[in-house]
Amino acid sequence: MKVTIVGAGAVGASCAEYIAIKNFASEVVIVDIKENYAEGKAMDLMQTASLNGFDTKIVGSTNDYSKTANSDIAVITSGIPRKPGMTREELIGINAGIVKTVSQSILEHSPNVIFVVVSNPMDTMTYLVHKSTNLPKNRIIGMGGALDSARFKYRLSEALECPASDVNGMVIGGHSDTGMIPLTRLAVRNSIPVSKFLSTERLNEVAEATKVGGATLTKMLGTSAWYAPGAAVSSMVQAIACDQKKMFPCSALLEGEYDLEDISIGVPCIIGKDGIEKIVAIDLSDQEKNKLQESAAAVKKTNGLLDI
Ligand code: LAC
Repeated sequence: MKVTIVGAGAVGASCAEYIAIKNFASEVVIVDIKENYAEGKAMDLMQTASLNGFDTKIVGSTNDYSKTANSDIAVITSGIPRKPGMTREELIGINAGIVKTVSQSILEHSPNVIFVVVSNPMDTMTYLVHKSTNLPKNRIIGMGGALDSARFKYRLSEALECPASDVNGMVIGGHSDTGMIPLTRLAVRNSIPVSKFLSTERLNEVAEATKVGGATLTKMLGTSAWYAPGAAVSSMVQAIACDQKKMFPCSALLEGEYDLEDISIGVPCIIGKDGIEKIVAIDLSDQEKNKLQESAAAVKKTNGLLDI
C-alpha cells in the first residue's frame, strides 16, 4: 500500500508520522515545493523507525511526482493554512490553483488513486478535485467531519468529565466555523444519550466550542492545528488501506442524497478499499435538515468563486 502526502507542512508531516506508527502502509511519499523540505521531514521521520518500531518506508520529494507513481491513496494538504482571525473560505484564491495542479499531477502518475482532500476551504477544494479530475465520486473524499467529530468528542468528554473513548458523536455539514452541525441529539455516552447528563445550555456550549475548534487553536498557535487533523486523516487512510468499512462523516459529492446536488459536504460515509463505499442516510430532525441546507448554501456560495 503506497500513500502520497502532498504538503510537508505540519498537517502533512503529522499524517505521515501517524500512518508510519500504525505500520499498515509499505511506503509513504511526501511531496513539497520547498527544496529539500519533504526529504528532510522524511529523513527525520525515518530516524524514528527503530525507536517507534515501524517498517513503513518514508520518502521525500521536491515536486517530483514520478516518485509518487502508483500510489493507492493521495492526501492533499498543500496550500496555505489560515492565520488567526481568518476564515477557511478566505484561502480559496491561493489554494484553488494549487489543489487543481496537484490533483492533476498525482493522477498522471497514479491512475487508480483515491484522493483524500484536506486543504481549505475543504468542501470547496473537494468539489474542485471532482471538477478537475472527473473521477468517480467514491474516489474523492474530503477530510473534515472526522476531525470535527473528534473535536466534538473531546468537548463532550470535557463536559461529561469522562474519557473521550466513552463518548460517541458526529459532526456533519460544511467544515467551517458556521457550517458545522454537531449532532448533539444523537451523541451518546456508552449508548446513553448525552442529554441525560448535560443540560441543553451545556450541550449548546459544547456544540459552539466544537464549531470554532479550529479557530480557537489557530488563535492559540498562530497557525492552523496539526495533531488532530493529522490523526483524522491517518484514520481515514487506514480505513481505506485496511478496508475497514468504518463510518466517518466525510465531504462526499452528493447527487440527491440529503436533498442536495452538485456539492461536496460532510455526511456520514462508509470508508473502505474503494473509498466512499456508501453514503449513509440518517433521519435528521427538521431543525438539523434546515441547518444542513443553510450550511450547503454557504458552501455553494464559496464554490461559486471557483474558476471552473
Ligand atoms: C482545522 C483545519 C485543518 O480545522 O481545517 O484545524
